[in-house]
Amino acid sequence: MTADAERHEIVYEHPRPETRPPIAYGPLRLETRYLLSPLAGYTNLPFRRIVRELGGVGLATTDLVNAKGLLRGNRRSLQLIETCPEDSPFAVQIFGSDPHDMCEAARLLEARGVHSVDVNMGCPVARITKGGSGASMMCRADETVSLVARLVESVRIPVTVKMRLGWDSTQITAPDFAREFEQAGVAAIAIHGRTREQGFSGTVDLDGIRRVVEAVERVPVVGNGDVRTIPDAARMLRVTGCDAVSVGRGALANPWIFRQLDEWERTGRYRPPGTFEDRLGLMMRQFGYLEERYGERNAIVMFRKMGHWYLKGMRVKPALRHRFQLAKTRAEFDAALDEICEAGPIGGSRTGLLPDMYVPVPSGPVERW
Ligand SMILES: Cc1cc2nc3c(=O)[nH]c(=O)nc-3n(C[C@H](O)[C@H](O)[C@H](O)COP(=O)(O)O)c2cc1C
Repeated sequence: MTADAERHEIVYEHPRPETRPPIAYGPLRLETRYLLSPLAGYTNLPFRRIVRELGGVGLATTDLVNAKGLLRGNRRSLQLIETCPEDSPFAVQIFGSDPHDMCEAARLLEARGVHSVDVNMGCPVARITKGGSGASMMCRADETVSLVARLVESVRIPVTVKMRLGWDSTQITAPDFAREFEQAGVAAIAIHGRTREQGFSGTVDLDGIRRVVEAVERVPVVGNGDVRTIPDAARMLRVTGCDAVSVGRGALANPWIFRQLDEWERTGRYRPPGTFEDRLGLMMRQFGYLEERYGERNAIVMFRKMGHWYLKGMRVKPALRHRFQLAKTRAEFDAALDEICEAGPIGGSRTGLLPDMYVPVPSGPVERW
Protein backbone atom coordinates (compact mmCIF):
# COMPACT_ATOMS: atom_id res chain seq x y z
CA MET A 1 0.00 0.00 0.00
CA THR A 2 1.31 3.52 -0.76
CA ALA A 3 1.93 5.94 2.10
CA ASP A 4 -1.00 8.02 0.85
CA ALA A 5 -3.43 5.11 0.79
CA GLU A 6 -2.15 4.04 4.18
CA ARG A 7 -2.85 7.47 5.63
CA HIS A 8 -6.36 7.57 4.24
CA GLU A 9 -7.09 4.24 5.93
CA ILE A 10 -6.05 5.56 9.31
CA VAL A 11 -8.72 6.63 11.76
CA TYR A 12 -7.84 7.00 15.42
CA GLU A 13 -10.21 6.13 18.23
CA HIS A 14 -10.45 7.59 21.71
CA PRO A 15 -13.37 7.32 24.19
CA ARG A 16 -15.71 10.29 23.69
CA PRO A 17 -16.01 12.91 26.44
CA GLU A 18 -19.02 13.00 28.75
CA THR A 19 -21.95 14.79 27.13
CA ARG A 20 -22.03 18.48 27.95
CA PRO A 21 -24.59 21.11 26.99
CA PRO A 22 -23.70 23.21 23.93
CA ILE A 23 -21.46 26.12 24.75
CA ALA A 24 -22.71 29.72 24.59
CA TYR A 25 -21.27 33.08 25.58
CA GLY A 26 -24.54 34.63 26.71
CA PRO A 27 -26.61 34.92 23.53
CA LEU A 28 -23.69 33.88 21.34
CA ARG A 29 -23.99 30.17 20.62
CA LEU A 30 -20.69 28.52 19.64
CA GLU A 31 -20.68 25.64 17.14
CA THR A 32 -18.04 23.71 19.06
CA ARG A 33 -16.37 23.91 22.48
CA TYR A 34 -12.88 24.09 20.93
CA LEU A 35 -11.47 27.58 20.75
CA LEU A 36 -8.34 29.18 19.33
CA SER A 37 -6.35 30.74 22.17
CA PRO A 38 -4.77 34.16 21.48
CA LEU A 39 -1.10 33.95 20.47
CA ALA A 40 0.51 37.35 19.93
CA GLY A 41 2.29 37.39 16.58
CA TYR A 42 0.35 34.40 15.21
CA THR A 43 -3.41 34.62 15.63
CA ASN A 44 -3.78 37.18 12.87
CA LEU A 45 -6.55 37.09 10.29
CA PRO A 46 -4.71 34.85 7.76
CA PHE A 47 -4.09 32.17 10.43
CA ARG A 48 -7.62 32.42 11.83
CA ARG A 49 -9.00 31.93 8.32
CA ILE A 50 -6.87 28.84 7.81
CA VAL A 51 -7.94 27.08 11.01
CA ARG A 52 -11.56 27.97 10.39
CA GLU A 53 -11.40 26.57 6.86
CA LEU A 54 -10.11 23.28 8.26
CA GLY A 55 -13.13 23.17 10.58
CA GLY A 56 -14.07 22.62 14.20
CA VAL A 57 -13.25 26.08 15.63
CA GLY A 58 -15.95 27.36 18.01
CA LEU A 59 -14.45 30.85 18.41
CA ALA A 60 -11.20 32.56 17.51
CA THR A 61 -9.68 35.50 19.37
CA THR A 62 -7.16 38.10 18.22
CA ASP A 63 -3.74 38.68 19.75
CA LEU A 64 -3.90 41.03 22.71
CA VAL A 65 -4.67 44.59 21.56
CA ASN A 66 -3.80 47.75 23.47
CA ALA A 67 -7.07 49.49 24.45
CA LYS A 68 -5.41 52.93 24.32
CA GLY A 69 -3.88 52.12 20.93
CA LEU A 70 -7.32 51.25 19.57
CA LEU A 71 -8.80 54.51 20.82
CA ARG A 72 -5.97 56.50 19.23
CA GLY A 73 -6.50 54.67 15.94
CA ASN A 74 -3.00 53.24 16.11
CA ARG A 75 -2.23 51.45 12.83
CA ARG A 76 -0.88 48.31 14.51
CA SER A 77 -3.91 48.02 16.81
CA LEU A 78 -6.32 48.43 13.89
CA GLN A 79 -4.39 45.83 11.92
CA LEU A 80 -4.83 43.35 14.77
CA ILE A 81 -8.62 43.67 14.69
CA GLU A 82 -8.98 43.21 10.94
CA THR A 83 -11.55 40.56 10.13
CA CYS A 84 -13.72 39.21 7.29
CA PRO A 85 -17.14 37.48 7.08
CA GLU A 86 -15.59 33.98 7.29
CA ASP A 87 -13.83 34.95 10.54
CA SER A 88 -16.85 34.38 12.73
CA PRO A 89 -17.62 34.27 15.61
CA PHE A 90 -14.77 36.55 16.42
CA ALA A 91 -13.49 37.94 19.71
CA VAL A 92 -10.98 40.72 20.28
CA GLN A 93 -8.77 40.54 23.33
CA ILE A 94 -7.92 43.90 24.88
CA PHE A 95 -5.46 44.88 27.55
CA GLY A 96 -5.14 48.02 29.65
CA SER A 97 -5.48 49.18 33.22
CA ASP A 98 -7.57 52.30 32.78
CA PRO A 99 -11.29 51.47 33.15
CA HIS A 100 -12.39 54.39 30.97
CA ASP A 101 -10.11 53.34 28.10
CA MET A 102 -11.11 49.70 28.41
CA CYS A 103 -14.85 50.55 28.29
CA GLU A 104 -14.40 52.94 25.36
CA ALA A 105 -12.34 50.36 23.48
CA ALA A 106 -15.06 47.74 24.09
CA ARG A 107 -17.71 50.16 22.76
CA LEU A 108 -15.63 50.84 19.69
CA LEU A 109 -15.31 47.09 19.06
CA GLU A 110 -19.04 46.55 19.55
CA ALA A 111 -19.77 49.32 17.05
CA ARG A 112 -17.49 47.58 14.54
CA GLY A 113 -19.48 44.35 14.85
CA VAL A 114 -17.05 42.32 16.98
CA HIS A 115 -18.96 39.42 18.58
CA SER A 116 -17.24 39.31 21.96
CA VAL A 117 -14.57 41.16 23.96
CA ASP A 118 -12.00 39.36 26.07
CA VAL A 119 -9.91 40.96 28.82
CA ASN A 120 -6.28 39.92 29.05
CA MET A 121 -5.40 39.12 32.65
CA GLY A 122 -2.80 36.49 31.91
CA CYS A 123 0.04 38.08 29.99
CA PRO A 124 3.23 37.61 32.07
CA VAL A 125 5.45 39.85 29.93
CA ALA A 126 7.07 42.63 31.99
CA ARG A 127 6.30 45.27 29.31
CA ILE A 128 2.58 44.62 29.87
CA THR A 129 2.50 43.90 33.62
CA LYS A 130 4.58 47.00 34.51
CA GLY A 131 1.80 49.20 33.15
CA GLY A 132 -0.68 47.45 35.46
CA SER A 133 -2.22 45.27 32.71
CA GLY A 134 -2.12 41.56 31.93
CA ALA A 135 -1.35 39.21 34.84
CA SER A 136 -0.63 42.09 37.23
CA MET A 137 -4.40 42.76 37.32
CA MET A 138 -4.55 39.63 39.47
CA CYS A 139 -2.67 41.55 42.19
CA ARG A 140 -5.39 44.22 42.54
CA ALA A 141 -8.60 42.34 43.20
CA ASP A 142 -11.03 45.19 43.96
CA GLU A 143 -9.90 47.45 41.13
CA THR A 144 -9.90 44.59 38.63
CA VAL A 145 -13.33 43.29 39.56
CA SER A 146 -14.73 46.79 39.37
CA LEU A 147 -13.11 47.35 35.94
CA VAL A 148 -14.60 44.13 34.60
CA ALA A 149 -18.04 45.00 36.05
CA ARG A 150 -17.93 48.42 34.29
CA LEU A 151 -16.92 46.76 31.07
CA VAL A 152 -19.84 44.34 31.23
CA GLU A 153 -22.18 47.30 31.81
CA SER A 154 -20.81 49.32 28.92
CA VAL A 155 -21.55 46.91 26.05
CA ARG A 156 -24.27 44.48 25.00
CA ILE A 157 -21.86 41.94 23.48
CA PRO A 158 -20.47 39.21 25.77
CA VAL A 159 -17.43 40.13 27.85
CA THR A 160 -15.04 37.35 28.86
CA VAL A 161 -11.78 37.23 30.82
CA LYS A 162 -8.67 35.14 30.34
CA MET A 163 -6.50 34.72 33.40
CA ARG A 164 -3.87 32.54 35.02
CA LEU A 165 -4.12 30.66 38.30
CA GLY A 166 -2.63 33.63 40.12
CA TRP A 167 0.51 35.73 40.34
CA ASP A 168 2.61 33.00 41.99
CA SER A 169 2.13 29.79 43.95
CA THR A 170 1.50 31.73 47.18
CA GLN A 171 -1.34 33.70 45.57
CA ILE A 172 -3.71 31.31 43.79
CA THR A 173 -6.48 33.85 43.34
CA ALA A 174 -8.23 32.58 40.20
CA PRO A 175 -11.13 30.81 42.02
CA ASP A 176 -11.98 34.00 43.97
CA PHE A 177 -11.74 36.13 40.83
CA ALA A 178 -13.93 33.66 38.93
CA ARG A 179 -16.66 33.90 41.58
CA GLU A 180 -16.56 37.70 41.48
CA PHE A 181 -16.51 37.85 37.68
CA GLU A 182 -19.54 35.59 37.51
CA GLN A 183 -21.40 38.00 39.80
CA ALA A 184 -20.24 40.88 37.59
CA GLY A 185 -21.89 39.20 34.58
CA VAL A 186 -19.02 37.94 32.43
CA ALA A 187 -20.07 35.46 29.73
CA ALA A 188 -17.14 33.06 30.17
CA ILE A 189 -13.85 32.65 31.99
CA ALA A 190 -10.77 31.17 30.33
CA ILE A 191 -8.11 29.86 32.62
CA HIS A 192 -4.53 28.98 31.70
CA GLY A 193 -3.45 26.53 34.39
CA ARG A 194 -0.16 28.20 35.31
CA THR A 195 0.80 31.14 37.52
CA ARG A 196 2.40 34.29 36.17
CA GLU A 197 5.63 33.33 37.91
CA GLN A 198 5.71 30.05 35.97
CA GLY A 199 5.58 31.77 32.60
CA PHE A 200 5.27 28.74 30.32
CA SER A 201 7.46 26.41 32.37
CA GLY A 202 6.40 23.14 33.97
CA THR A 203 3.12 21.54 33.05
CA VAL A 204 -0.39 22.86 33.31
CA ASP A 205 -2.08 22.34 36.71
CA LEU A 206 -5.39 20.67 35.91
CA ASP A 207 -6.44 20.59 39.58
CA GLY A 208 -5.96 24.35 39.66
CA ILE A 209 -8.33 24.70 36.70
CA ARG A 210 -10.81 22.36 38.40
CA ARG A 211 -10.90 24.66 41.43
CA VAL A 212 -11.96 27.51 39.15
CA VAL A 213 -14.70 25.32 37.63
CA GLU A 214 -15.89 24.46 41.15
CA ALA A 215 -15.86 28.10 42.23
CA VAL A 216 -18.55 29.21 39.77
CA GLU A 217 -22.24 28.36 39.51
CA ARG A 218 -23.03 28.40 35.83
CA VAL A 219 -20.70 30.63 33.83
CA PRO A 220 -18.78 28.53 31.26
CA VAL A 221 -15.12 27.91 32.09
CA VAL A 222 -12.63 27.40 29.28
CA GLY A 223 -9.67 25.20 30.27
CA ASN A 224 -6.36 26.08 28.65
CA GLY A 225 -2.80 24.87 28.56
CA ASP A 226 -0.71 22.12 26.96
CA VAL A 227 -3.48 20.63 24.82
CA ARG A 228 -1.75 19.22 21.75
CA THR A 229 -3.61 15.98 21.13
CA ILE A 230 -7.03 14.42 21.59
CA PRO A 231 -5.93 12.54 24.74
CA ASP A 232 -4.70 15.90 26.19
CA ALA A 233 -8.12 17.46 25.55
CA ALA A 234 -9.89 14.40 26.95
CA ARG A 235 -7.83 14.74 30.16
CA MET A 236 -8.51 18.48 30.38
CA LEU A 237 -12.28 17.92 30.10
CA ARG A 238 -12.37 14.93 32.44
CA VAL A 239 -10.09 16.17 35.23
CA THR A 240 -11.24 19.80 35.33
CA GLY A 241 -14.91 19.47 34.32
CA CYS A 242 -14.45 22.58 32.15
CA ASP A 243 -17.06 23.48 29.52
CA ALA A 244 -14.71 24.28 26.66
CA VAL A 245 -11.04 23.96 25.78
CA SER A 246 -8.82 26.53 24.14
CA VAL A 247 -5.73 25.56 22.17
CA GLY A 248 -2.81 27.84 21.37
CA ARG A 249 0.57 26.35 20.46
CA GLY A 250 -1.03 23.01 19.62
CA ALA A 251 -2.83 24.73 16.73
CA LEU A 252 0.43 26.10 15.34
CA ALA A 253 1.88 22.59 15.32
CA ASN A 254 -1.34 21.05 14.01
CA PRO A 255 -3.91 23.43 12.47
CA TRP A 256 -6.23 20.42 12.01
CA ILE A 257 -6.59 19.97 15.77
CA PHE A 258 -10.01 21.68 16.00
CA ARG A 259 -11.45 19.49 13.27
CA GLN A 260 -10.01 16.44 15.04
CA LEU A 261 -11.49 17.54 18.39
CA ASP A 262 -14.91 18.11 16.89
CA GLU A 263 -14.89 14.76 15.06
CA TRP A 264 -13.75 13.00 18.22
CA GLU A 265 -16.46 14.58 20.38
CA ARG A 266 -19.17 13.61 17.90
CA THR A 267 -17.98 10.12 16.96
CA GLY A 268 -15.11 8.96 19.19
CA ARG A 269 -13.00 8.79 16.02
CA TYR A 270 -10.78 11.28 14.23
CA ARG A 271 -8.54 11.44 11.20
CA PRO A 272 -4.82 12.25 11.27
CA PRO A 273 -3.56 15.78 10.61
CA GLY A 274 -2.30 16.81 7.17
CA THR A 275 0.74 15.48 5.34
CA PHE A 276 3.80 17.35 4.08
CA GLU A 277 1.90 18.23 0.91
CA ASP A 278 -1.26 19.26 2.76
CA ARG A 279 0.82 21.51 5.02
CA LEU A 280 2.63 23.03 2.08
CA GLY A 281 -0.71 23.85 0.44
CA LEU A 282 -2.01 25.35 3.67
CA MET A 283 1.12 27.39 4.15
CA MET A 284 0.86 28.85 0.66
CA ARG A 285 -2.82 29.64 1.20
CA GLN A 286 -2.02 31.47 4.43
CA PHE A 287 0.83 33.31 2.73
CA GLY A 288 -1.58 34.27 -0.06
CA TYR A 289 -4.02 35.83 2.44
CA LEU A 290 -1.18 37.85 3.90
CA GLU A 291 0.06 38.94 0.49
CA GLU A 292 -3.45 40.06 -0.53
CA ARG A 293 -3.47 42.50 2.39
CA TYR A 294 0.11 43.63 2.74
CA GLY A 295 1.79 43.08 -0.61
CA GLU A 296 4.50 40.63 -1.52
CA ARG A 297 7.54 42.12 0.24
CA ASN A 298 5.84 42.81 3.56
CA ALA A 299 4.15 39.43 3.49
CA ILE A 300 7.49 37.62 3.05
CA VAL A 301 8.87 39.25 6.21
CA MET A 302 5.61 38.95 8.16
CA PHE A 303 5.31 35.26 7.32
CA ARG A 304 8.72 34.22 8.74
CA LYS A 305 7.48 33.43 12.25
CA MET A 306 4.60 31.36 10.98
CA GLY A 307 6.70 29.74 8.26
CA HIS A 308 8.99 28.43 10.97
CA TRP A 309 6.12 26.44 12.53
CA TYR A 310 4.90 25.11 9.21
CA LEU A 311 8.35 23.96 8.15
CA LYS A 312 9.08 22.33 11.51
CA GLY A 313 5.74 20.51 11.28
CA MET A 314 6.65 19.43 7.73
CA ARG A 315 9.95 17.97 9.00
CA VAL A 316 12.04 20.15 6.71
CA LYS A 317 15.83 19.99 7.13
CA PRO A 318 17.23 22.82 9.30
CA ALA A 319 19.44 24.17 6.48
CA LEU A 320 16.44 24.55 4.17
CA ARG A 321 14.35 26.17 6.90
CA HIS A 322 17.16 28.63 7.44
CA ARG A 323 17.28 29.45 3.73
CA PHE A 324 13.52 30.11 3.75
CA GLN A 325 13.94 32.50 6.69
CA LEU A 326 16.53 34.53 4.76
CA ALA A 327 14.33 35.09 1.69
CA LYS A 328 13.68 38.77 1.02
CA THR A 329 12.27 38.72 -2.50
CA ARG A 330 9.62 36.59 -4.13
CA ALA A 331 12.30 34.93 -6.28
CA GLU A 332 14.27 33.88 -3.16
CA PHE A 333 11.07 32.79 -1.40
CA ASP A 334 10.03 30.62 -4.36
CA ALA A 335 13.52 29.16 -4.78
CA ALA A 336 13.62 28.18 -1.08
CA LEU A 337 10.22 26.54 -1.40
CA ASP A 338 11.25 24.68 -4.55
CA GLU A 339 14.19 23.19 -2.68
CA ILE A 340 11.95 22.30 0.24
CA CYS A 341 9.49 20.53 -2.08
CA GLU A 342 12.28 18.73 -3.84
CA ALA A 343 13.84 17.47 -0.59
CA GLY A 344 10.57 16.41 1.09
CA PRO A 345 10.41 15.62 4.82
CA ILE A 346 13.29 14.17 6.82
CA GLY A 347 12.60 10.48 7.16
CA GLY A 348 9.08 10.38 5.77
CA SER A 349 7.03 10.70 2.61
CA ARG A 350 5.29 13.73 1.13
CA THR A 351 1.89 12.08 1.34
CA GLY A 352 2.18 9.89 4.42
CA LEU A 353 1.91 10.46 8.16
CA LEU A 354 4.48 12.80 9.66
CA PRO A 355 5.85 12.32 13.18
CA ASP A 356 4.41 14.73 15.77
CA MET A 357 6.52 17.84 16.21
CA TYR A 358 8.00 18.99 19.47
CA VAL A 359 6.07 22.07 20.60
CA PRO A 360 8.47 24.63 22.06
CA VAL A 361 7.63 27.07 24.84
CA PRO A 362 8.86 30.64 25.14
CA SER A 363 11.79 30.30 27.53
CA GLY A 364 13.91 32.54 29.73
CA PRO A 365 12.99 34.80 32.59
CA VAL A 366 9.52 36.27 32.22
CA GLU A 367 10.96 39.71 33.02
CA ARG A 368 12.94 39.80 29.79
CA TRP A 369 10.29 38.74 27.27
C1 LIG B 1 3.88 33.24 21.53
C2 LIG B 1 2.71 33.32 22.47
C3 LIG B 1 1.89 34.44 22.46
C4 LIG B 1 0.80 34.54 23.34
N1 LIG B 1 -0.01 35.63 23.27
C5 LIG B 1 -1.09 35.71 24.09
C6 LIG B 1 -1.99 36.81 24.00
O1 LIG B 1 -1.85 37.72 23.19
N2 LIG B 1 -3.05 36.82 24.87
C7 LIG B 1 -3.26 35.82 25.79
O2 LIG B 1 -4.23 35.88 26.54
N3 LIG B 1 -2.44 34.77 25.84
C8 LIG B 1 -1.38 34.69 25.02
N4 LIG B 1 -0.57 33.59 25.08
C9 LIG B 1 -0.95 32.47 25.97
C10 LIG B 1 -1.78 31.45 25.21
O3 LIG B 1 -3.02 31.98 24.80
C11 LIG B 1 -2.07 30.23 26.10
O4 LIG B 1 -2.72 30.65 27.25
C12 LIG B 1 -0.79 29.48 26.49
O5 LIG B 1 0.09 29.38 25.41
C13 LIG B 1 -1.12 28.07 27.00
O6 LIG B 1 -1.91 27.38 26.06
P1 LIG B 1 -1.26 26.38 24.96
O7 LIG B 1 -0.43 25.37 25.73
O8 LIG B 1 -2.45 25.78 24.27
O9 LIG B 1 -0.39 27.20 24.06
C14 LIG B 1 0.53 33.49 24.24
C15 LIG B 1 1.35 32.37 24.26
C16 LIG B 1 2.43 32.26 23.39
C17 LIG B 1 3.27 31.02 23.41
